[in-house]
Amino acid sequence: MRINKYIASAGVTSRRKADELIEEGKVKVNGAVLVNPGYHVEDGDVVEVNGVAIRPETKLVYYLLNKPTGYVTSTADEEGRAVVTELVPDNIRVFPVGRLDYNTSGLLILTNDGELSNKLMHPRHEFNKKYLARVNGIVSRAEAARLAKGVDIGGFVTSPAEVELIRHDKNSTVMEITIHEGKNRQVRRMCKAIGHPVEELCRVGLGNLTIGKLAVGQCRKLSPAEVEYLKKV
Ligand code: URA
Repeated sequence: MRINKYIASAGVTSRRKADELIEEGKVKVNGAVLVNPGYHVEDGDVVEVNGVAIRPETKLVYYLLNKPTGYVTSTADEEGRAVVTELVPDNIRVFPVGRLDYNTSGLLILTNDGELSNKLMHPRHEFNKKYLARVNGIVSRAEAARLAKGVDIGGFVTSPAEVELIRHDKNSTVMEITIHEGKNRQVRRMCKAIGHPVEELCRVGLGNLTIGKLAVGQCRKLSPAEVEYLKKV
């Protein structure tokens, strides 16, 4: 395997950034700084990046988790809070692709495929992200239209979104909101901008993947077709 692919497969960084690391002399093979960016790694080679030995995962796994609230989207948390990787059944080290807030539930992908993960997190792969949001108060059609057109969430105007009013009771409204960007806490900031702060938020779709009937806290393997879809986008 070519060295930049080997480094990307280990989840260190993208192939392009791996080339930069090689150029900066930060990659060693069998103890010697690598000078040839076209080097093909052979069985038994020891590859180090910044002094740390790396190895691509051999068995690649892909999960779709229905994240519960109260979990941090990370592999470890300094404050000792529960992390999403605890919910993956196998003993294989995986990491989340993208993030959901501590208080957001729903669809999250976890994998040990560093290359795919790096690719999916690149801004050029802005998937449609569909959320069900329960917000405070009754949202009018005009407010929903404002949300859909784009709102200022503090130095940034969101691009057009799809917004559907689903139902409301005396104190709150449920909406389906599909966004095509991924700013930090974007849906919460958008709803706050129209005066209806989020009370509950759940991601129900990502590209053509959906949460379906997967129970909260449960995880399932992605089908081969779903993995292919993610690799092709
Ligand atoms: N938007 C948010 O505000 N929070 C999330 O977790 C995801 C999208």
